[in-house]
Amino acid sequence: MLELIERLGPRLVAISGDLTQRAKPRQFRAARRWVEHIQVPVLAVPGNHDVPLYRFWERFLAPFGAYRRHFAEDLEPVYLDDSLLAIGVNTAYGLTFTGGRFRPRRLAEVRQLLASAPDSVYKVVVAHHHLVPARRFDLQTVSRNAHAAIELFASAGVDLVLSGHHHQAYVARSDEFYAEALPPVLIASAGTTTSDRGRGAEVGVNTCFQIEVDDRRLEITTLRWRPDGERFVASSRHLYPRRALWSGGLEP
Ligand SMILES: [Fe+2]
Repeated sequence: MLELIERLGPRLVAISGDLTQRAKPRQFRAARRWVEHIQVPVLAVPGNHDVPLYRFWERFLAPFGAYRRHFAEDLEPVYLDDSLLAIGVNTAYGLTFTGGRFRPRRLAEVRQLLASAPDSVYKVVVAHHHLVPARRFDLQTVSRNAHAAIELFASAGVDLVLSGHHHQAYVARSDEFYAEALPPVLIASAGTTTSDRGRGAEVGVNTCFQIEVDDRRLEITTLRWRPDGERFVASSRHLYPRRALWSGGLEP
């Protein structure tokens, strides 16, 4: 993965949560050491596994204490340059933690951030939990407040949402699940990149997304690790017109 990042030299590396298995300090420190090898900006948000599940008092009193002490102080970082705005949203909240929650307070902040960015800037939200159910997944549930989040993202011009949690790589359009929020938002849910956890057909499979954008279109390529060749190879490619073109926001 580090070799791939070095070779591609992306503008930004987004890590959509679950940096650790059990939110242990040494696991966060290992994740930190790994991220420090990356020579380009990195935006990471916590996942449910980054909150202690069994250390009850810690979970109750300071659920993100270990993350902040050993990985990063900022749970919801924001990246901005002249053409890209990426907003981190921490969704690792909720009684069971597994389903996640989009907090109204963070959505209000996201609304402000989106409103203050020029139309021409690509707008990306990075959040661990799912806004749409995975296609090959038994539970057809979504995160709490997912509906409010999609309505905001659709109306405020978000080009792309990056998420994770399902251990399956897929790209969805929000109107497959929320018919009324138009124009639809693209959602790219990352599979498992660096561990051996996977689900369904992706058990034991490692993938990541390579995302390229220009004024007119967005291209998402799923890269899949080939152990025999010891490298990531393209396994699927999705092309979409830039969202602003769908809504008439840019010159055709
Ligand atoms: Fe997760």
